[in-house]
Amino acid sequence: MSDGMISRKTVLKAAAALGAAPLLIGGGVALARDQAGAGRTPGLTPECHDGDDPTIEQTEGPYFKPDSPLRSSMAGDGPGTRLTVSGYVFGRACWPIPGVLLDFWQADDGGTYDNSGYTFRGHQFSDANGAFRLDTIVPGLYPGRTRHIHVKLQAPGRPILTTQLYFPGEPRNSTDTIYDARLLMNVRQNGPGREGTFDFVLDVPQTPGPTPTPTATPTPTATPTGGPTTPPSGSWAAGRSYNAGDRVTYSGVSYVCLQAHTALVGWEPPNVPALWRRV
Ligand SMILES: [Fe+2]
Repeated sequence: MSDGMISRKTVLKAAAALGAAPLLIGGGVALARDQAGAGRTPGLTPECHDGDDPTIEQTEGPYFKPDSPLRSSMAGDGPGTRLTVSGYVFGRACWPIPGVLLDFWQADDGGTYDNSGYTFRGHQFSDANGAFRLDTIVPGLYPGRTRHIHVKLQAPGRPILTTQLYFPGEPRNSTDTIYDARLLMNVRQNGPGREGTFDFVLDVPQTPGPTPTPTATPTPTATPTGGPTTPPSGSWAAGRSYNAGDRVTYSGVSYVCLQAHTALVGWEPPNVPALWRRV
């Protein structure tokens, strides 16, 4: 719709005229909004280098479900520490982007994903200021991963960014091979609950700003640790813990592990492309 485009441009112009000053809320953390207010160029998620670095993308894992409900609160009445996650979505020139789809999903307090329903799944759209706010709980831990929240973002007419948000001070951050400190939220305690903040910067060209180069296809997040990888001599087995880069055979086919996890029945390599890539 042309109306949408006009209103988006209008919003961006308004943001430019205001110098993004209204976004300078809170303080003390190096969020992209602060950098924008200071006249500097914030990075892509999570870092900006004048437009030539690809946005950090992370695997969606095995638990994404489409068609989540439209809602910004998915906390419910169950157990768990209440958590808000808020922030802004910016484009390459550091202007906020309204109307960005943010689709969140996470484990419940016990570390379980709702794969039959939509508990702790929900999508929303950034508002006219590019802001979002999610009311939820601190996700529980599950085997093989540190604490995290999944999210997919899509600016109007742009590709989907799939990534994850992390919590500071988590012991498993040092052992989770997917974890990336550049995706850490700022988290503070607020009474019995917690408040997390994070600003996303999408690879969306804006004026003024650098003309983005085409984004290369993101590489898998698996990062083999340099040495020779384990030869594909072992057989996949439920109950076994695998790390990114591990190789197994299953039904005579070799696979490489894309993210650390403990294998479960039903997670056979051919069934979970988020965990195993055929090699
Ligand atoms: Fe997950």
